Amino acid sequence: MFSNAIVRKPGRSMIEGLTNANLGSPDYLKAVDQHESYVCALRDCGLKVTVLEADENFPDSTFVEDTAVLTPHCAIITNPGALSRKGEINRIQKELREYYSHMEEILSPGTVDGGDIMMVGNHFYIGLSNRTNVNGAEQIIRILNKYDMSGSIIKVEKALHLKSGIAYLENNNLVICGEFLANPEFKKFNIIEIPEDESYAANCVWINDKVLIPKGYPHTLQNIINAGYSVAEVDVSEFRKLDGGLTCLSLRF
Ligand code: GLY
Repeated sequence: MFSNAIVRKPGRSMIEGLTNANLGSPDYLKAVDQHESYVCALRDCGLKVTVLEADENFPDSTFVEDTAVLTPHCAIITNPGALSRKGEINRIQKELREYYSHMEEILSPGTVDGGDIMMVGNHFYIGLSNRTNVNGAEQIIRILNKYDMSGSIIKVEKALHLKSGIAYLENNNLVICGEFLANPEFKKFNIIEIPEDESYAANCVWINDKVLIPKGYPHTLQNIINAGYSVAEVDVSEFRKLDGGLTCLSLRF
């Protein structure tokens, strides 16, 4: 179960954020409203939410998940793979020191984005992507081992991040889409398959027995309800334009 979340408001500079989505520029005011609704949804799941002010120097800094990997035993500050995002870690590191006595960090030449890390109990799946490199993944595994946890590497060929196409909903249930469906590593899970035309909704998030999913994906909604979950839809259309989604917008612990 999670008790806390950290989020960061989007800044006006979000329109300069990194993206390959080809969905146009985000509407800042709409994004602010959507972010407020997202925070309410987190609170409805029972979380105490720390809302950090926007930082206009970092257009992608609302996507706080990429800056840290939070485990039950330590916080790992990442070294984000995109040059424009590296400075985002400083504010998050300061905040997490309030909560964690064990802090670790990923050092260059290793790079890791938190969006590439999926926690399944004491095991962490680490996506090798354009943002997370082998050196970074190996550093993560060494740190996990130090705290009696483990990690394994999953190749990400098409998606931005591992969690762009996969989400663990606890109880051995795994939402999965696209390139990850055929991966033998995931055969042991109960698969909740997301149709290709709703692939964006694979980035959903389990919080304390509730699942938040992006608004507007009816098949995903039904599949997750059929799996027995209580579901809340959250509109994150403006963040989708920056390749971001529901997990990217918070750190949960
Ligand atoms: N726009 C989010 C990212 O590319 O990291």
